[in-house]
Parts: sequence; C-alpha cells; structure tokens
Amino acid sequence: MTYTRILGTGGYLPDRVVTNAELARTVDTSDEWIVSRTGIRERRLAGDRETTCDLAEQAARVALEAAGCQASDIDLVIVATTTPDRVFPATACLLQDRLGIHGPPAFDVQAVCTGFIYALSIADKFIRAGSCRRALVVGAETMSRIVDWSDRSTCVLFGDGAGAVVVGAADEPGILSTHLHADGAYKDLLTANTGVSDVRAAWPGRITMRGNEVFRMAVTTLDALVGETLAAHGLAQGDVRWLVPHQANTRIIAATAKRLGLPMEQVVVTVDRHGNTSGASIPLAFDTAVRDGRIRRGDVVLMEGFGGGFTWGSVLLTF
Ligand code: COA
Repeated sequence: MTYTRILGTGGYLPDRVVTNAELARTVDTSDEWIVSRTGIRERRLAGDRETTCDLAEQAARVALEAAGCQASDIDLVIVATTTPDRVFPATACLLQDRLGIHGPPAFDVQAVCTGFIYALSIADKFIRAGSCRRALVVGAETMSRIVDWSDRSTCVLFGDGAGAVVVGAADEPGILSTHLHADGAYKDLLTANTGVSDVRAAWPGRITMRGNEVFRMAVTTLDALVGETLAAHGLAQGDVRWLVPHQANTRIIAATAKRLGLPMEQVVVTVDRHGNTSGASIPLAFDTAVRDGRIRRGDVVLMEGFGGGFTWGSVLLTF
C-alpha cells in the first residue's frame, strides 16, 4: 500500500509588518478591539511589486531544501490561491518555471481558506493512485490586493504569506485521511464578488463579509468536521497530538480545540502575528511548529480549514 508522507515544509512572510496601531490611524478601530475579537496583533503585507508567485517561490525553495529534494524530483505542482498573479497561466505554472520544473502537471486550486486542504488532499490522491511520486503543494496569497482598506470590519483580518510542503510516496502513513466539503448556498456571506466573466462590477472584487454569520457557521461546521474526522479513524479526542487550524480568529480556533479536547498548548496559533492569510495560513502554521520543534516525526496532526464558498475540510496525518 502506498501512502503520502510530508517530507519537508517551508514558509515565507513578506518583510512589511503592519500593526493594529498602524491600521487604527486609517480606519476607526483599536488594538484592543482587534485583539479581543480576533486575537490578531499584526500581519505582513507584500510590497507593491511582490506577487503571490514571489511568496510561493520563497516558501517552495525552503520546503524543497527541508525535504532534501531537487526541483527535478518533483512530478506534480499544486498551488492553492485565491489571489493568483494572472488570470492565466496558473500560478502553479509560473512557479514551476521559476523552479525549473518542466513537464509535470501544475495547476491552481481555488477553495479560498480551505485551499491548502483541498490541494494536499488532491496530491495525496495522485500519490496513492501511483500517478506521481513527489508533489510540491503550496498555499500562497496576497490577500492585501483584494481587501477593502476602508472597511474596518474586514481590513483588520487579513495578511499575506506563503507556506509549502513537499510530499512523497511512502510505505507507511503519512496522511491518514482527508475530508472535503463545500456548499455554494453560502456564496454571499464571504465573497469578493466580481470576476473575469461578470462585467457588472469593478475589477478586482473586494472582500465583503457578514462576520457574525460566518463566525457562527465556522464554529458549528468545524465542530462537525472534527467529529467526522475522528470517527473515520475510530480516534478519541486525546489521540490527536496537534491541531493545526486555519488561522482566522482565535475564538474559532479555541472552540475547535475544545471540541477536540486539546489544551491550547497543543494548538498551533499564528494568527496573532500573521492575520488570516487564507490558503497560506495552514502550511505557514504547520511550518512554524515543525521548525520550532513542537511538531515531531510520529505526531498525529489534524489540519482543518473553513472559508469562502463555503468550503471546509480536514487532513489527518502522522508527521
Ligand atoms: N474595529 C472596531 N469596531 C469594529 C470593527 C473594527 N475593526 N469591525 C467591526 N466593528 C464594529 C461593528 O461596526 C459593530 O458596531 P455596531 O454594534 O455599532 O454596529 C460592532 O463592532 C460589532 O460588530 P460585529 O460584526 O457584530 O462584531 P463581531 O463580534 O462579530 O466580530 C468579527 C467581528 C469579524 C471579528 C467576527 O464576526 C469574526 O471573526 N467573524 C468570522 C470572520 C472570519 O473568520 N472570516 C474568515 C473565515 S475564513
């Protein structure tokens, strides 16, 4: 039986740090409000000339090095992004070219904040089916490009960054299971509601959100998702060593941790420093905890995400 193992991780954050105090100079908000409602203290923003692919490339190079891989070892490239450099080609193709990977399939996945979970799940299926041996899976975003910087209810939430993993075929797990969901009936609760094909509004769309409703849906949906994931393996609450959640809001994260019966010491939280980097948030958080030595080989890790669509999903794995 073939399994998918994570061979190496990488992350990259742009240099520019934007604190809550800095935002409070341009919109009617305060550090106290943002920290108490979201846990966010600061976020990173890409420079004017820095693109999603630039961030993805940095994270990918670090992950390749950590995995001990050459670019030529990679036979699948997937980038999860909602903020691609171009309408086409896919950011995965742009990244592939930067890295000197020529020939293997490369494509983007658009599932907003669940994008990395979707991308990792797809890579797992490619590997288990024998269609590839080593995949580069990246979550990369420049959310700052689609934030409405005059809307205090959303602009305080988001940040830019990229995270990456190299996964490879192995005889032992690895990824234990993946669980993906979506329901487009909720398309208007969290959206950047213009696109290439819809010419009725200005391009590009800016993020709008009914925050309260999103919050409630996120908590109840993730609760059910955690139950589904544990049940699929007959796991009990305490069997998971680490929760690596999508980083949107510490209150949502704490509710999921409670559902898992995990103390916050076993939850990787980066939202305070990164903000919500959408598809990049989970691999960035994972890389952070691998690099600082918290997540070790053999640990059981649950990754979960929830985002626009709505989309939601989880990956349960042994690192
Ligand atoms: N600073 C100060 N006040 C703000 C503010 C800000 N940045 N943003 C909103 N407010 C105000 C609102 O205008 C409202 O004022 P009013 O009562 O005078 O109308 C008040 O704060 C309460 O707004 P509300 O939206 O009810 O706050 P909330 O407790 O729901 O917190 C969020 C807002 C966005 C933090 C919260 O709803 C949330 O985290 N939602 C989920 C967001 C998310 O995770 N999205 C991504 C999913 S991938």
